[in-house]
Amino acid sequence: MQSYSLIAPAKINLSLEIIGDRPDGFHELVMILQSVELADIVEIQASDTQEIYIHCDHREVPCDRTNLAYRAAELMCQTFPEVYANYGGVVIKIKKNIPVAAGLAGGSGNAAAVLVGINLIWNLGLTRPELHDLAAKLGSDIPFCVSGGTAIATGRGEKLDSIEDLADIWIILAKYDNISVSTPWAYQTYRQQYGDSYIKDPTQINSRTAAIHSSPLVKAIAHKDSTEIGKLIYNDLEKVVFPEYPQVAELKSAFSTQDVLGTMMSGSGPTVFALCDSENSAIAVKQAVKTLINDPHLKFWVTKLSNNGIQIGDS
Ligand code: C5P
Repeated sequence: MQSYSLIAPAKINLSLEIIGDRPDGFHELVMILQSVELADIVEIQASDTQEIYIHCDHREVPCDRTNLAYRAAELMCQTFPEVYANYGGVVIKIKKNIPVAAGLAGGSGNAAAVLVGINLIWNLGLTRPELHDLAAKLGSDIPFCVSGGTAIATGRGEKLDSIEDLADIWIILAKYDNISVSTPWAYQTYRQQYGDSYIKDPTQINSRTAAIHSSPLVKAIAHKDSTEIGKLIYNDLEKVVFPEYPQVAELKSAFSTQDVLGTMMSGSGPTVFALCDSENSAIAVKQAVKTLINDPHLKFWVTKLSNNGIQIGDS
């Protein structure tokens, strides 16, 4: 049987606004999500047993059921029991390039790749919307990871509307390898501190959600106005992560002293990104911030925004 090597890109939030609570305990979000070229490689092939095996080259990535990629394979086995009985289990090999626990959806992208990969090796013929529905059962940002590009994400983050692509912008990602932020902690803390200002009326939530389509950032993206995009990027979770992790706030301050289009924390952090209009500029900014902060734990990646979700690579 065929095996597939899939490219699973990282994701950043160009904007993340928390607007209210949901009956399911999650938050109502209004976000603009963006793929970047930095990507993990996920190889998937049939195993000779009924088991699911995960192998990963990164010591912090678990290879058991706590790995979202494992749960993605398990979901496919449960959803298509006859096909699973016929084809057997899968062996999943993950080559990590995206930093772990970074607010870059690395684990979500791996799970998205497993859904796409099993759809291929089992010849299921699932459509994009069907893959999205399965992805949403596993995590809020996994549907986006399947399709990638630039998209408005609302609801829990699983309702997607693709917008204009934005590939020609360079990006520096920076993360301390000794700092990680728990996403549930970030959202819970936000609720404790800002819950009083949440929108409660469902009609108001709907109109707030609809308004993103005509927001200045979406207009700037449509016009490919990178200067305006850089000014308009936004993340509510900085309000809770920065006081708790001052180094992350200082990292953003260091980027903002440089010649960048804009700088922001991604997702629940702790990765901070900066947008630049050329590769040379991104490399120069990276070097300057590295010298300014001078901490061996601070790691950098220079990459580009991408139009792609999960792609088939070279086997
Ligand atoms: O869906 P996902 O597993 O990525 O969410 C991780 C955590 O982030 C959730 O357990 C929840 O605490 C928080 N979250 C939230 N509202 C969302 C998405 C995530 O509160 N819309």
